[in-house]
Amino acid sequence: MRRSKLVINCQPGISPVLKNEIESLGYRVLSVDNTGVSMEGGWEEVMDLNFNLRTASRVLWTIRSFEAKNPNELYAEAKKTPWNKLIPKDGFISIHSFVKNDYIRDTSFANLKLKDAIVDQMTETTGDRPNSGKEKDKTVIFMFWYESKCTIYFDTSGETIAKHGYRKMPFKAPMMESLAAACVRSSVWKPGKDHFINPMCGSGTLAIEAALLATNRPPGLLRDNYGFMHIDGYDPEVWKAQKSKLRINSKIDGKIIASDLSGLAVNAAIENAKNADVSDLIEFEKAPFEKTNIPEGSGIVMINPEYGDRLGEIEELEKIYEQLGDFFKQKCQGKMGYIFTGNSNLAKRIGLRTKSKTQFFNARIECRLLEYELYGGSRKAEGNHKT
Ligand SMILES: C[S@@+](CC[C@H](N)C(=O)[O-])C[C@H]1O[C@@H](n2cnc3c(N)ncnc32)[C@H](O)[C@@H]1O
Repeated sequence: MRRSKLVINCQPGISPVLKNEIESLGYRVLSVDNTGVSMEGGWEEVMDLNFNLRTASRVLWTIRSFEAKNPNELYAEAKKTPWNKLIPKDGFISIHSFVKNDYIRDTSFANLKLKDAIVDQMTETTGDRPNSGKEKDKTVIFMFWYESKCTIYFDTSGETIAKHGYRKMPFKAPMMESLAAACVRSSVWKPGKDHFINPMCGSGTLAIEAALLATNRPPGLLRDNYGFMHIDGYDPEVWKAQKSKLRINSKIDGKIIASDLSGLAVNAAIENAKNADVSDLIEFEKAPFEKTNIPEGSGIVMINPEYGDRLGEIEELEKIYEQLGDFFKQKCQGKMGYIFTGNSNLAKRIGLRTKSKTQFFNARIECRLLEYELYGGSRKAEGNHKT
């Protein structure tokens, strides 16, 4: 794999956090937009990013870009690519795309044209061809065709890397793992030093992501297949060497506490933490949020309450959000408080001045991570101002 432009995608809103995460791995980011960042890289970067990134959804490696004004031009241009040198001839390809132009109404037609170009080129040069289908567990190709500019990539992740592989037991409205990681990384929490307290933990995603970050366990530890493993030139020895660079901290100083009113949620969180190999690092409690143990010392309290959509539900939740504000004021002084919610009217019920608001999307719902400075001692009153 030659060095080429890499496009690292994420859910909308996460890209500033992703940029920071990529830079902390030692890479130079070339550009940032709402759904991703770009940089340059080859095999080493592709393996490193797929293995380590917590806030990304996939890593695309640019095969080539060209002009195509209709499906026939797409076929002709795509067929000029030496696919026989890139894809195992007895392999399996899966083609996905984003297409926006006047030439194509149905993306599956564009995908079919691209697939025909690939298999025809390979049959003509090798006498053999890969099979194709929807499954993303082998070679995955992504086409971005906007107006007449078409770029074709390998999706080197294959199945998305936004899921981190430990959540076998989801509870109500779980956060996508990459989004939870982005919330943790957006906070002022010092991994492994400060306390991380997560009332209303549900299936435990925020607390588990905090534990993974504090111990330097990359999401790739729980995964053994990626798209890049099905591109010609993949060397399992290089991958092994890459993984052996890992340095896991088994001990952390601050506490990580996860609690929930529901015993089922706590059990799911424990099972998920076991899958992630961090259950020993998290203290689980079955408790209403206001009874959660808040230890002395610096740290953060991060909560993802439900944000509901039915009227009765909303009325009930208004009270809960008011109580969350009281809980922050009365029990969490000296900590930083965070609420992740998709309902800004409910958020107003918290009644505290926000220090910052970071916009994210959970599925398609616009959400915010609200930050509250919960001063203790003499500055206590400042945390009590209403928005
Ligand atoms: C939106 S879910 C949290 C999802 C979580 N972030 C995840 O990724 O799985 C909200 C959680 O709050 C819990 N909950 C609701 N009311 C509560 C209360 N009064 N005290 C504690 N937990 C509560 C629910 O049981 C549910 O698990």
